[in-house]
Amino acid sequence: MHPTDPAHPVDPVSPVSSVGSVLLATFELVPRGEDGGELLRRAFADVGIEAQWAVWTDPVVDWSSADTVVVRSTWDYHRRLPEFLAWVDRVAATTRLVNAPEVLRWNADKRYLLDLADAVPVVPTIDVPADGLLTGLTAALAEHGAVVVKPRVGASGVGVVVAERTDDLRLSGLTAGPWLVQPLVASVRTEGEASVFVFAGRAVSQLRKVAPPADVRVHEEYGGTTTPVALDADAAALAERAVAAAGERCGASPAYARVDLLHHGGRLVVSEVELIEPGLYLDLLPGNAGAFAAGLRT
Ligand SMILES: Nc1ncnc2c1ncn2[C@@H]1O[C@H](COP(=O)(O)OP(=O)(O)O)[C@@H](O)[C@H]1O
Ligand SMILES: [Mg+2]
Repeated sequence: MHPTDPAHPVDPVSPVSSVGSVLLATFELVPRGEDGGELLRRAFADVGIEAQWAVWTDPVVDWSSADTVVVRSTWDYHRRLPEFLAWVDRVAATTRLVNAPEVLRWNADKRYLLDLADAVPVVPTIDVPADGLLTGLTAALAEHGAVVVKPRVGASGVGVVVAERTDDLRLSGLTAGPWLVQPLVASVRTEGEASVFVFAGRAVSQLRKVAPPADVRVHEEYGGTTTPVALDADAAALAERAVAAAGERCGASPAYARVDLLHHGGRLVVSEVELIEPGLYLDLLPGNAGAFAAGLRT
């Protein structure tokens, strides 16, 4: 059976032994990978690489049997981080892991934004320890009026809340600290976020994500809208700089990245550099499949 034949999908846990084999790590709720995941397998097949999806927590998978393991839709990593990082170390000890383990580890704590601040403009951010919420919030509210509080380890908008007072009821949506506190960047509901995909250091495609009126989160599950747009030169240049700076700080160049940018204070600033499991939006940007596969070979 040819591995890219969509009529005969390969069992994600079947052994992989061919030369140039890749395992695409996903999580148990999407065992066949992200939407359009078949496109990604086909893109690898086009360059002679057999790629299969495998669930990162599946004890049957022999990760060492693949030449490369690529982290993809491991969208539960933030709620089981120690287990995920132990898996990262285990896999990296036996085969090539992409992104590199030092990149994954560095990116798992959003405090990396503070690390990047001397290289690229970032959303103004303070780090608030788990026992310092009242103090941190009071200071940030005095400075900004309205703020966004988010867990330092988090994804998919979980636990991201807006507050305008220390007794703001919306703070009941907080998840466990430590947190980052930032000014509420109002343009997220108008211009929206510019999301730039960067493969092997080069910006290749872009999305515009706009938050709905009742939320600041741009994610589809909260009512946000996502549209493919032409790559903007300024956004592309800033995204490439952010990825290069990330690589310098963690000691390995990211093979793939999605950089989210916001308009704040009259300029573009970095809101997030996603180096673990950014969805590729293959339904909107099918070209990301080939660009991702090519980026891995360099
Ligand atoms: N400071 C902010 N101002 C306005 N919106 C924000 C701010 N921080 C985050 N958001 C919104 O919340 C979403 C989730 O926050 P983000 O930092 O991207 O974390 P996650 O890893 O959960 O995606 C963002 O995509 C954006 O829509
Ligand atoms: Mg995000």
